[in-house]
Amino acid sequence: MRTQINSNYGLLGGSGYPFVRLRRLRKNKAIRELLQETRLSVKDFICPVFVESGLKEPKKISSMQDVKRLPLSKITDEIDSILKLGINSVILFGIESDKDDKANAASSEKGIIQKTIKNIRSNFGEKVVIISDVCMCQYTPKGHCGIIKNKKIDNDPTNVTLSKIAESHAAAGTDIVAPSSMMDGQVSAIRHELDEKGYFDTSILAYSAKLASPLYTPFRDLAGSYPEFGDRKTYQMPFTNPKEAIREIEMDINEGADMIMVKPAIPYLDLIYQARESFKLPLCAFSVSGEYALIKAASEQGWINEIDVMTEFLTSIKRAGADIIITYHAKKMASVLKNK
Ligand code: PBG
Ligand code: ZN
Repeated sequence: MRTQINSNYGLLGGSGYPFVRLRRLRKNKAIRELLQETRLSVKDFICPVFVESGLKEPKKISSMQDVKRLPLSKITDEIDSILKLGINSVILFGIESDKDDKANAASSEKGIIQKTIKNIRSNFGEKVVIISDVCMCQYTPKGHCGIIKNKKIDNDPTNVTLSKIAESHAAAGTDIVAPSSMMDGQVSAIRHELDEKGYFDTSILAYSAKLASPLYTPFRDLAGSYPEFGDRKTYQMPFTNPKEAIREIEMDINEGADMIMVKPAIPYLDLIYQARESFKLPLCAFSVSGEYALIKAASEQGWINEIDVMTEFLTSIKRAGADIIITYHAKKMASVLKNK
């Protein structure tokens, strides 16, 4: 008997022999696990850590639930608990009360992030990958990601400051600097500075396609980094522009980025997919505070199941093509995977 197979490996017309039954592949949990195409691993996750100068006790922000601002004295315990869950990487965000227009505290040798990096390095050596966010918004009174001149963000002088901040992180012992300010040329400015000072081994994770997203609000509560005037739309990307996103990524690669990023993640799976298809560099997705808060809030109401939705969202990000994921669900997802 002659069978005609169509391009979807099914029978044309759906009758006759052999009748393809995909449900055979789903008949029990063991088979489904065997054939699972996308797998989450605890090694995929980068756990965000917030550390605030001058803080005595951890501080909770209602929109961010399980994520707290920590004092330096609690960092060792925090990293210890992250490593115990099998997560190897953290991204550090500093919160500084001593703010000024030039963000001087951000590049100080005795700044909160520099102290935190040294502390982690001396306690945990090379067991943990330290990524440090490089920006100005948590360190300036106006809460913008750059130097302000006549109510505008001044691109090139900002790059000089970002380079100094990145160099101070490298000096403290960070593995990877992650510039998030979205200035043009920030990656090349930082690469030049790092190389000039001999930090050849410090990598750059470029926040390449960082969209001007309303999903950053809980982060700004947590980090105290609301812009005091205007918005970030003159430097963060319009979320309507996929071609521009690819140009952003391409430019960062040409400027020397070691890794690229798309941020946020869930509303931009198309960009993650395109970036995966177009570039071979390690691709990071930043699943942002608002994505986390939506799941937390709805699950608290009993409207969705937190663990199931978190698992679906993170799996989608990986399926779209991300290699690694910055996520506020990191610890919870790690414990779910551990107990599976
Ligand atoms: C700013 C910065 C932002 C986030 C991290 N660093 C965005 C912003 O305030 O515009 C957002 C992260 C999140 O929402 O989880 N440099
Ligand atoms: Zn910023």
